[in-house]
Amino acid sequence: MRVEGKALRTIWVGDDAASVKIIDQTRLPHRFEIVTIANVADAARAIKDMQVRGAPLIGVTAAYGAALAMRADPSDLNLEKACAVLAATRPTAVNLQWALTSMRRLLAALPPTERFAAGFKHAAAIAAEDIALCEAIGDHGLGLITAVAARKVAGPKAGQPVNILTHCNAGWLATVDWGTATAPIYKAHEAGVALHVWVDETRPRNQGASLTAWELKQHGVPHTIIVDNAGGHVMQHGEVDLVIVGTDRTTASGDVCNKIGTYLKALAARDNGVPFYVAAPSPSIDFSISDGVAEVPIEVRSEREITHISGLGDDGDVKTVRLAPAGSAAHNPAFDVTPARLVTRLITERGVIAANRDALAKAFPERVALR
Ligand code: MRU
Repeated sequence: MRVEGKALRTIWVGDDAASVKIIDQTRLPHRFEIVTIANVADAARAIKDMQVRGAPLIGVTAAYGAALAMRADPSDLNLEKACAVLAATRPTAVNLQWALTSMRRLLAALPPTERFAAGFKHAAAIAAEDIALCEAIGDHGLGLITAVAARKVAGPKAGQPVNILTHCNAGWLATVDWGTATAPIYKAHEAGVALHVWVDETRPRNQGASLTAWELKQHGVPHTIIVDNAGGHVMQHGEVDLVIVGTDRTTASGDVCNKIGTYLKALAARDNGVPFYVAAPSPSIDFSISDGVAEVPIEVRSEREITHISGLGDDGDVKTVRLAPAGSAAHNPAFDVTPARLVTRLITERGVIAANRDALAKAFPERVALR
């Protein structure tokens, strides 16, 4: 997508063809900085510290990390060690395991001398696949938005834009390009559909306010940031036509794990008759589990993300300040699970499907066969 009008991806191969570059997302929206990932430790740190984040991008970064490990030492032992280090960075997004399984399967079968070159090529293929999956999600999701737009041509809502609410950042910054939840939005915007996006700020790390708002602004997509607690209110007042969110792990039965607060949005959407869509590329679907609440490992992050907040001071410096009284405890689960019954449809690269076992198995028979 674009930054200051220039086409860019979130991860790309460096000029030396032996390292990769990323946008440091911990610095956005106030600073735009590019960081070099030269080895597996850099890749693991970038994922853990959330310089890169979002399920698909975590997977792609891990794939490059495994490839870079083969440059330093292509032995079987180092392959296993690198995959273990990368797998331990963040527990919830299943794309991490998916990408590492794919890398390990390929690399373990090759002679060590061929592993770095083949690994780098395979990581690039995973990145290219991510772009294709997101774009296909955009094409399928576009129809959902244009259908709403068509209903607004006449009647009491004539002339109003399609109002879409999204949570966290499932935008291009969370993937290699396009985003998942934002792909239909960018496609609709490019097609000239009048739309407006409600951007949940997404406490505690504010991926909505700092990342989604930034990328929508870069593309000229009209949007408004709301505090997380305002979602129900705008839905009650008829100001949301549809919700589109991303997913870190969707189970075989269609339960959706995504950023903390997604579940509350789904409850509010159901109460207000607002369709709740989940953009779910297949690498984010975990066919090995069924009950999301019981089986998805939920990352619990540091209390400091709740008790403190960072922002740009009037003097132009980024500062961190304390919000809560010293000594108060905080609990920071980073994700929650929305049961399949609250999900109107999944937008996958193979079409818009019901969030249930049969529809998922029918859309991805080869993944079920692997179980
Ligand atoms: O903690 P984060 O920022 O990695 O969480 C990101 C999300 O929850 C996204 O919605 C999800 O990964 C889907 S990204 C296309």
